[in-house]
Amino acid sequence: MAYDYYASGAEDQWTLAENRNAFSRILFRPRILIDVSKIDMSTTVLGFKISMPIMIAPTAMQKMAHPDGEYATARAASAAGTIMTLSSWATSSVEEVASTGPGIRFFQLYVYKDRNVVAQLVRRAERAGFKAIALTVDTPRLGRREADIKNRFVLPPFLTLKNFEGLDLGKMDEANDSGLASYVAGQIDRTLSWKDVKWLQSITSMPILVKGVITAEDTRIAIQNGAAGIIVSNHGARQLDYVPSTIMALEEVVKAAQGRVPVFLDGGVRRGTDVFKALALGASGIFIGRPVVFSLAADGEAGVRKVLQMLRDEFELTMALSGCRSIKEITRDHIQTEWDAPRALPAPRL
Ligand code: FNR
Repeated sequence: MAYDYYASGAEDQWTLAENRNAFSRILFRPRILIDVSKIDMSTTVLGFKISMPIMIAPTAMQKMAHPDGEYATARAASAAGTIMTLSSWATSSVEEVASTGPGIRFFQLYVYKDRNVVAQLVRRAERAGFKAIALTVDTPRLGRREADIKNRFVLPPFLTLKNFEGLDLGKMDEANDSGLASYVAGQIDRTLSWKDVKWLQSITSMPILVKGVITAEDTRIAIQNGAAGIIVSNHGARQLDYVPSTIMALEEVVKAAQGRVPVFLDGGVRRGTDVFKALALGASGIFIGRPVVFSLAADGEAGVRKVLQMLRDEFELTMALSGCRSIKEITRDHIQTEWDAPRALPAPRL
């Protein structure tokens, strides 16, 4: 049940496969004979310096993967010098995660029907030292995840959605289909709209990243409504099936953002080459979801440390072999996509 919850996507899982496949259709145009003896992968996100543009996406209920759950992820992220995003539906609270020690952390927000619950939670996150809100905007209802329906997925009885424990919203009832889908239907506010993004800004001074944008239209509206950044995401292909992969949607969003706010990507990033491709298309950084829950299941904190190190090493190698010594040296010309015009060939000599 837990594996299926982590691994699966919505309906036919077409987008799930496409999130990976699309990366393989982007090729490199490496530059040679550049001194790559020193590679600097460090970068800045919302003013925070991090060691590499690889960050951790919010994934719910990490204690199903390993008893240390979000504690392990938080420690591994801060050891790697990068950002962890904590899910609203974590099995550890914002205060518990903060107690693991220093680290730059963002808080992912689901907006409940009861706005007092939301306001309280946002305030707690801010007090616990979280630095930004990632507002998930692609989930007015839960996508149709057929594995969860078949398994009648619920949070195991020994775990709670810790952030909501005191609010009597920490448990999930069993249902005839997915217990999580029923929980969402009961608690999450389907009326959420752009005016609520304004409301959120009125209750917090944390910057707001809008997570789940995949079109130019919504990018422009998000910026008009005060978004501090955009996360191009299809929720790991768990919401609307047959949306494009995020790497295919990225450039449209980057162009619409016109450099006014940073654009990030998540979905299907599994290799250092994927990280490079996203940056070449204009992303300021990427987030990983499933690689964290799987490595957590395999080996707890050590597992998450290892997956971050593996991606870091691969990304460094990709930079070196492409002739890039720093993040800002990665350009659109370092890759070639299907939608690029064929490059002019020299006229054949007769
Ligand atoms: C997620 N995702 C997610 N997103 C969110 O905003 N809040 C959440 O609680 C969760 N929970 C969650 C659980 C699991 C098991 C998965 C796989 C995903 C989506 C997540 O933040 C991210 O968008 C994707 O996981 C990125 O795709 P990859 O890296 O998993 O391919």
